Amino acid sequence: MTPDRQIRITEVALRDGLQGHTTFVPTEQKLLLLRSLSKAGLNNIEATSFVSPKAVPQLADAEELIARSRDLPGVQLSALALNLKGVERAIDSGVHEVAVVLSATDTMNRKNAGMSLHQATIASEDVIRRAASHQLPSRAYISVAFECPFEGAVPSEVVLRLALRMLEAGATELVIADTIGAAGPAQVQELCRVLAESIPVERIGLHLHDTRGLGIANAWAGISVGIRRFDSSAGGLGGCPFAPGAAGNLATEDLVLMAESGGYATGVDLPALYDAVELASQITGRELGGRSMSWARTRRDAALVGSS
Ligand code: COA
Ligand code: ZN
Repeated sequence: MTPDRQIRITEVALRDGLQGHTTFVPTEQKLLLLRSLSKAGLNNIEATSFVSPKAVPQLADAEELIARSRDLPGVQLSALALNLKGVERAIDSGVHEVAVVLSATDTMNRKNAGMSLHQATIASEDVIRRAASHQLPSRAYISVAFECPFEGAVPSEVVLRLALRMLEAGATELVIADTIGAAGPAQVQELCRVLAESIPVERIGLHLHDTRGLGIANAWAGISVGIRRFDSSAGGLGGCPFAPGAAGNLATEDLVLMAESGGYATGVDLPALYDAVELASQITGRELGGRSMSWARTRRDAALVGSS
């Protein structure tokens, strides 16, 4: 498979998925899920956040989780940090990569990180530089890149300006996040095209939410303009607790099915991924799964009936 036909998925169920879950999922169960995702071929896993445990108590076990999973063979483990304290904790824990989130609007940064847009931009640059000084790659997210729940539509020039600041600070990858699932395929294509005029397209990723059922169409729109890096969440588990209207992420199983059926390789084994989604459902007590999971369940139930 040529590089142009390869899709790199960063699995975010453990971070974006569990950060908004109603209860704290014990570390042991998080580890089971992490291993199950890795068994399915998901080698890039965003496992947790090094943020204030008061702000996100669900991920208060970040140190322990990373310490107990960083040696999993072949897995690139990343964790989110929003400030210097967070990146120091991440580095000390032994993560392989840091993810930093800068929101595109002033209000969203204040709600999410207690900082103005200006302060958050500087804090993100500091995180990236500190990671680089420890030879750690960093993914810089521009969140609410299409629409902010507080300030409305976000101009593409704003996203481009912030993206360039992150890359100049040393970010190795840029991720455009549709945090509340407000974009449609045309907006995805337009923003990606604008960014790709100034940034190598191989360094741009998309983080999509499926709030209005457009996640998979948006991913295909991204592929059509050369994007090959995507975030997604097993079972579609996810949503930012600080962004009203944020619903589940694009489900990894839907992304994999779409990409593979379009002739792109993901390295993910779908039946093993369905097992991971079942495990995530048990752990969270929620019926999870994208459309392809419902299809798989129906087929499995039909096969069971057939064999009985
Ligand atoms: N890890 C652990 N604790 C941290 C921390 C970090 N990275 N950053 C700050 N804190 C602690 C401080 O030590 C302080 O603790 P104290 O109350 O015991 O003294 C407390 O958090 C408040 O710190 P302060 O610097 O005043 O920041 P704040 O209250 O404005 O909060 C954040 C800033 C970024 C720490 C907080 O908003 C946060 O963690 N948000 C999480 C956002 C998130 O995860 N969003 C979803 C993904 S984008
Ligand atoms: Zn998200």
